[in-house]
Amino acid sequence: MSFLYKKLLREILFEFDPETVHNAMLKSVGSLQNISAANRVIEFLSRAKDFPLTVAGIAFKNPIGLAAGFDKNCEAPRILAKLGFGFLELGTITLRPQSGNPRPRLFRAREHKGIINRMGFNNAGAYEAARKLERLLPAGVPVGLNIGKNADCPLDDAPKNYLEALKLLYPFGDYFTLNISSPNTLQLRELHRKERLARLIEPALDFINGSAAKKPLFIKIAPDLGDAELTEVAETALKHNLGLIATNTTVKRDHLPELWRSCEGGLSGLPLRDLSNETLKKVTGLTAGRVPVIGVGGIFDGPSAVEKFRLGAGLVQVYSGLIYEGPLMVKAILKYMEKTGFSPAKERV
Ligand SMILES: Cc1cc2nc3c(=O)[nH]c(=O)nc-3n(C[C@H](O)[C@H](O)[C@H](O)COP(=O)(O)O)c2cc1C
Repeated sequence: MSFLYKKLLREILFEFDPETVHNAMLKSVGSLQNISAANRVIEFLSRAKDFPLTVAGIAFKNPIGLAAGFDKNCEAPRILAKLGFGFLELGTITLRPQSGNPRPRLFRAREHKGIINRMGFNNAGAYEAARKLERLLPAGVPVGLNIGKNADCPLDDAPKNYLEALKLLYPFGDYFTLNISSPNTLQLRELHRKERLARLIEPALDFINGSAAKKPLFIKIAPDLGDAELTEVAETALKHNLGLIATNTTVKRDHLPELWRSCEGGLSGLPLRDLSNETLKKVTGLTAGRVPVIGVGGIFDGPSAVEKFRLGAGLVQVYSGLIYEGPLMVKAILKYMEKTGFSPAKERV
């Protein structure tokens, strides 16, 4: 099946504009969501051994998740879950709807198995996301909701902007991610700085701690941070018991030829793998297993997923790999884990 995807379907899809293809695919799978026969077929094709584990107090059937950005408007959680994922992260969702950057804003660096995007948090906003989730959940697996800042919101007002979105979305997520690392929103990455980060998370944590159900909060970080910045983020995570997601896309183009150097946006996929793994390793070293860490960046198969667990990730997520390897990649990773007898830690903070 995955051979068919790579030799046939991918060849056809890659002839068209990446964003048009993505939207069309998501719409068509989304519309299959309520057809039980379609759900059963996809579930059957994707079935694999379970690897049950608990991370951040949440029980997962396996540790392979869908990364944020794939389903920004929470359109297809039920059918995406049927692809065998242990969890889904939906969004990025901003408080108010916004159209994002002008198109074209999504590019395949095909010969390098990379993707460059400068989408700019195009999404229908938190209210619309909540309406969709109310209708479409439960998805059958835990769902994380990834929140970002509106582009027209000044940095000083970011804490309120995130908090309002968190409040609207709170009933629907099993965990929440504050995305401070997209390179496509001006100044967003400034939120990694210690004082800015504290000002961002404290109101969010006050809200969570005042709620009846206390749900885990994650911060998604960039792979382009210096050691001093990483240390500060890790200290904040330890102090407030925050989970970390390492990493978002990179603005570096070190391993790409000239052609791609001038293409603005965040780079993901294979060219991101090493950089993302370095960041993951540093973060798990700094936090020493005391906070949950999700590894993401450049997973294409079983070995690249297992590498992240060995570097200390409790869970992993995938995005670009799905585009290049096809929807059965999750099953392939789980099969590899079964075949090699590798089992991620069953219990993590
Ligand atoms: C087209 C595209 C859109 C993305 N949008 C988001 C987003 O909205 N929020 C976010 O936190 N990450 C976003 N990401 C980053 C991914 O979640 C992930 O962190 C990154 O792509 C590295 O993983 P990968 O190499 O498996 O793709 C996006 C990635 C891509 C390729």
